Amino acid sequence: MDLTRRSFLIGTAGLPLASRRTGDPFTLGVASGDPTADGIVLWTRLAPRPLADGGHGGMPDRDVGVEWQLAEDERFTRVVRSGTATARPSWAHSVHVEPSGLRPGREYFYRFRTGGHLSPTGRTRTAPAPGTAPDLAFGVVSCSNYEQGYFTAYRRLAEQQPDLVLHLGDYIYEYAPGGYKNSAGTIVRSHTEHRCQTLAEFRLRHAQYKTDPDLRALHALAPWIAVNDDHEIENNWAGVHPGTSGRPDFAQRKRAGYRAYYEHLPLRRSALPRGSGMRLYRRLAWGDLTTFHVLDTRQFRDDQPCDDGVRADCAARLATGRVLVGAAQRAWLAAGLRASRARWNMLAQQIFMAQHDYHLGPGKEVLLDTWDGYTAERDRVLGDVVASGARNPVVLTGDIHCHYASDLLADFDDPDSRRIGVELVTTSVTSDGDGYDAPAARAVELAENPHIAYADQRRGFIAARLTPTELRADFHTLPYVTKRNAPSTVTASFTVTDGAHHLSRSAVPASRAPQAAAAGAPRHP
Ligand SMILES: [Fe+2]
Repeated sequence: MDLTRRSFLIGTAGLPLASRRTGDPFTLGVASGDPTADGIVLWTRLAPRPLADGGHGGMPDRDVGVEWQLAEDERFTRVVRSGTATARPSWAHSVHVEPSGLRPGREYFYRFRTGGHLSPTGRTRTAPAPGTAPDLAFGVVSCSNYEQGYFTAYRRLAEQQPDLVLHLGDYIYEYAPGGYKNSAGTIVRSHTEHRCQTLAEFRLRHAQYKTDPDLRALHALAPWIAVNDDHEIENNWAGVHPGTSGRPDFAQRKRAGYRAYYEHLPLRRSALPRGSGMRLYRRLAWGDLTTFHVLDTRQFRDDQPCDDGVRADCAARLATGRVLVGAAQRAWLAAGLRASRARWNMLAQQIFMAQHDYHLGPGKEVLLDTWDGYTAERDRVLGDVVASGARNPVVLTGDIHCHYASDLLADFDDPDSRRIGVELVTTSVTSDGDGYDAPAARAVELAENPHIAYADQRRGFIAARLTPTELRADFHTLPYVTKRNAPSTVTASFTVTDGAHHLSRSAVPASRAPQAAAAGAPRHP
C-alpha cells in the first residue's frame, strides 16, 4: 500500500465496507456538480457489476460505508475535507457528499474508497467569490443516445479543459433496444433489454450509459450543472401528461425516472425527488461574472397543443393561458433576474426558444414541443427578462439535435425589432447518428428565419469562453459518431459583446483544431 492509499485509512463509523471479493465497485466513475463559492457536490455509485439483473449493480442488499477525500492537490498531500458516507441499497448505493466551507474559485481533487478499492480521482472547482469576475471556460452538451453513437464529443469537450459543463437534458434515452432509429438506422451498441418503466430498468440504463469511458472522463474532469429534458422519463412528456409511449402508469414511470436521475447525477439534496416530482430549477452564481438560471421546461408545462409534432396550423399554441415553466417558476426567475448583479445572465434550459419556421418555402410550420407551442409563455418570460434589466441575457438550449445560434427578438415576425439577447443551441452528442451538413437547405432555413445566424446538423458540443466584456462560443462538430475517436473541429464561432444583445460572427482560429488540444494546449486556448 502506498502512502496516498494509507492516508485514506480514516474512520468508517462502524459501517461494513464493500467486500474485496465483489470486485471494483467504482466502475461508474466519479462526478461533481452544482459548484458554489464555498461548496460542491461529490458523487459516486457502487456497482461492481453495472449491468447485473435487477439494477442493483452487483451490490449486496445492505448499507455500505464509503470514505471520501477532498484535497487541494492531485496527490492528496493536502486533504482539506474527508469523511464517511453511507451508500444505501434504497438509493442504488449512490453517494452524494456536499462538503462546504471551501475556498472560492479554486481547483480541488476528490476520490472515494471502500473495501480496499480506490476510485478514480476527480477534478472539480468551486465558483469564484462574489465581487470577483475571473474568466470562465464552459461547455454545453445535450442528447446522448447510447445506441446511436460513441460519446466522443464528451471526450473532445474534456480536452478543451472546461471549468464547468452544462448538460441540458436527454442524458439517457428510455427506449427499448432499437426503439429509436435515425434515418440511416445505424445502431452501434444496444440498449439494455427493456423500455424503461421500473426503477430497476432506469437504474440499469443509467449504469449502462456510465460504462462509456468518455462520459466518465468528462464527469471526472469538471463539475457539471445538469438538468433533465424528456428522455430521462419518456419522449415528449408534459407535466402530468405522458409522452408518446402510449403506456399506462406514467406517474410510476416518472417517479422511477426522476429517482434514477437523482441517483446518477451530482445533484444537491435540494433536488431529492418528492412524490413524483423533483426540484431542478435553480440558480448558480459564478462570482459576479455570470449567474446560471437553470430552468425546468418539462415538469410544469401544459400538454403540447394540437397533438404535438410539427404543424402549420395550430391556433391553440397561441392561447394566452397556456404555461411552459409555470407560474411559480416564472416568478422565481423574474425575481432572480431583478436581483442579479451578474454581468451575464444565462438561462440554461432545454428547448428551442426563438421562433423557428421549419417549412422551407411559403408558409410556416413550427415544432409544438418547443416554446413555439407556448408563445404566450415565451412573450411573458422574455418580457420578464427585459423588465428585470438583467444584464446580457443568454439562453442556452439543447434538445433539437442541431447546432443553432440565434438572436432573440421582441417580435420574431419583425426582423428589425428589438434584440433582447441571444440563444446558443448545442447539437446532440450522438442522437440521430452521424448527421450531415446540408448547405442548400440550411441557406433556405436561415433566409426564412433571419434571426437565426447558424445551423449545423452534425453532432458535437459548444465550448464557450466568458469574460466581463465578451462571450465567445465555439461550435464544435464531429464528422461521425458511429465509429470511435472522431476528431472535432470548430465549424463556427460567435461572440456577444457586453451590452450588445446580439451575435457577431467571428473567424474560427486555427489554434482551436483538435490536435492542439490533444498536444496539451494552454488551459484557455
Ligand atoms: Fe434528444
